[in-house]
Amino acid sequence: MKNILVTGGAGFIGSNFVHYLVENTDAQVTVLDKMTYAASKESVDGLGDRVKLIVGDIADAAVVDPLVAEADAVVHYAAESHNDNSLNDPSPFVTTNIIGTFTLLEAVRKYGVRYHHISTDEVYGDLELDDPERFTESTPYNPSSPYSSTKAGSDLLVRAWVRSFGVEATISNCSNNYGPWQHIEKFIPRQITNLIDGVKPKLYGAGLNVRDWIHANDHSSAVLTILEKGAIGETYLIGADGEKNNLDTVKLILRLMGHDENDFEHVNDRAGHDLRYAIDSTKLRTELGWTPKFQNFESGMADTIQWYRDNETWWRAKKAEVEAKYASQGQ
Ligand code: NAD
Ligand code: DAU
Repeated sequence: MKNILVTGGAGFIGSNFVHYLVENTDAQVTVLDKMTYAASKESVDGLGDRVKLIVGDIADAAVVDPLVAEADAVVHYAAESHNDNSLNDPSPFVTTNIIGTFTLLEAVRKYGVRYHHISTDEVYGDLELDDPERFTESTPYNPSSPYSSTKAGSDLLVRAWVRSFGVEATISNCSNNYGPWQHIEKFIPRQITNLIDGVKPKLYGAGLNVRDWIHANDHSSAVLTILEKGAIGETYLIGADGEKNNLDTVKLILRLMGHDENDFEHVNDRAGHDLRYAIDSTKLRTELGWTPKFQNFESGMADTIQWYRDNETWWRAKKAEVEAKYASQGQ
């Protein structure tokens, strides 16, 4: 695959994948990104001639078609990605996540291009805290939020385009990512940047909700593995056995940043807040031989904290607006 089109490649995980491609393949990479509030040009700067950034909308066929026509593969990360935003205004989630995916699928169908679809474990809904089961590829879809329902809708479009039109697609559903370049609206960077600002971390509800954390680099290695070795039409779950409840995660951040681990505050809970996500990634590990490398959450978190300390100029301009929005919701 010489030419890879990465949609959403200026966002958190997409930019990590662009770096991963540059470091681990010889591919030419074209990033198609609308440069929404969540994008950052700096995250893909300095990568030389092998990376080209095109600013455009995945829901615009006139932009998408010629780019897909030139590509050997499309890896589709672009999305509206934040659950809290989807509760305030679902509209861009429907347009980007569903119409955008439809537009890409029609283009890969037209030009016969290999397609990999990035999705989330949230399409499966949530689990009880004491449920011994984890999500697998055969767990029924049961999304809770406007965000996760639009991601579920986009996954179903992909499945239908594979079956009805023979599109050469794979799908991956990954758990919660952490690492550098994550927007400060998200849980971990929000708390790190709050503490840098002398503000207490904000925990939704009691903080017992569990997320299954994976480092963004491990997500990228899994996606490249699926792109190269995955079976067409198959879905692969990506996870690194990283279940933690939010309370323990906040306490870890407080401790690593030199604070008393009880120095946080409870704020209003998220409407419809999913209780627990947990991924069983046996299929990816056994069939494609993938293994995660960044399984020490404490050292991954320490590196992430250091990155936000070192890169204050990147996030500083966004902080006041993000916090004002949360404050207006008692969060
Ligand atoms: P992000 O919000 O950081 O980045 C999304 C990127 O998509 C941004 O650069 C944005 O400008 C771009 N984009 C948005 N709308 C667009 C449009 N209409 N046309 C072109 N570009 C557009 O998101 P992220 O956290 O990096 O997530 C990337 C993908 O991974 C999403 O599909 C998300 O559902 C999925 N995912 C995320 C996680 C996670 O923990 N963050 C976990 C599993 C799956
Ligand atoms: O599971 C994968 C999903 O992970 C991705 O599909 C989404 O794109 C990504 O945003 C993430 O969704 P979450 O809703 O799990 O992530 P978020 O960072 O928003 O919140 C993580 C947990 O922390 C969740 O239980 C809500 C809680 N939280 C969040 C914020 C912003 C807090 O307790 N306090 C906060 O300030």
